[in-house]
Amino acid sequence: MKTITSIAEFRKQLADWRQSGDRVAFVPTMGNLHIGHLQLLTQARRLARRTVVSIFVNPLQFGPSEDYQSYPRSLEADSVQLAAEGLDVLFVPKVGEMYPDGTESMTRVEVPDLSNILCGRSRPGHFTGVATVVTKLLNIVQPDVALFGEKDYQQLLVIRRAVADLCLPVEIVGVPTVREADGLAMSSRNVYLSDAERARAPLLYQTLLEVVERLQQGADDFVALEAEAVNRLLESGFRPDYVSVCRAHDLTAPTLQDSALIVLGAAWLGKTRLIDNVALHY
Ligand code: PAF
Repeated sequence: MKTITSIAEFRKQLADWRQSGDRVAFVPTMGNLHIGHLQLLTQARRLARRTVVSIFVNPLQFGPSEDYQSYPRSLEADSVQLAAEGLDVLFVPKVGEMYPDGTESMTRVEVPDLSNILCGRSRPGHFTGVATVVTKLLNIVQPDVALFGEKDYQQLLVIRRAVADLCLPVEIVGVPTVREADGLAMSSRNVYLSDAERARAPLLYQTLLEVVERLQQGADDFVALEAEAVNRLLESGFRPDYVSVCRAHDLTAPTLQDSALIVLGAAWLGKTRLIDNVALHY
């Protein structure tokens, strides 16, 4: 495995691969890797001869009171895992390489509407930061295919929309969420949970599953289901941000005719913000 920190050096590597006609698959990450990330890499290897993972904690997608400084960074352990998985290139740019002129007045990629609902409502600017860095990484790596976890479902839709609107020549693949044995969705931020919070955390997933079950049994008052789920989370010691039943393809409000829905939730447990979702097809 080669570790590359500069865009210029990465481009040289890419030119070599292109000369040999190799397909490239790309997994962008912020590091502190877990089995969910390794699952993305496993899928990537099935789709292309060459695989690239980036680790970049992107300041542009963190709000002023969020955890940019304290976000878990574990580059050495991450590198060991990725090398053992047979990764070709680990791309680890510094902030100055990605944003040489700072972030204040740089060009941004904004996906309106989709970015301002659900998580975007309580994290203003977050999805613009994500869409901007992902577009930039896609332009650097120029992969044939890029893979993202479905746990961050809203992020996946924002990226799909940006890629489609900007005609970026890359296929975006969503990979199902990997869960702990008790159902908790794997996340780099789970390390923030205390033991007591960790024991309670799977309740977010269970609550979303209950909503799905009720929908499958014929419940059709989406607003009431969402309110009940929020109350259940409150009673269980969470500080819920939202539980929302949406159309799966664009996250707008569903009608009774829609056949592909998704139930999404976000809630705080102590200082950890957890998100999760469960899809439902009638
Ligand atoms: O999901 C993440 O880890 C990040 O949001 C991403 C896609 C790597 C962009 O920084």
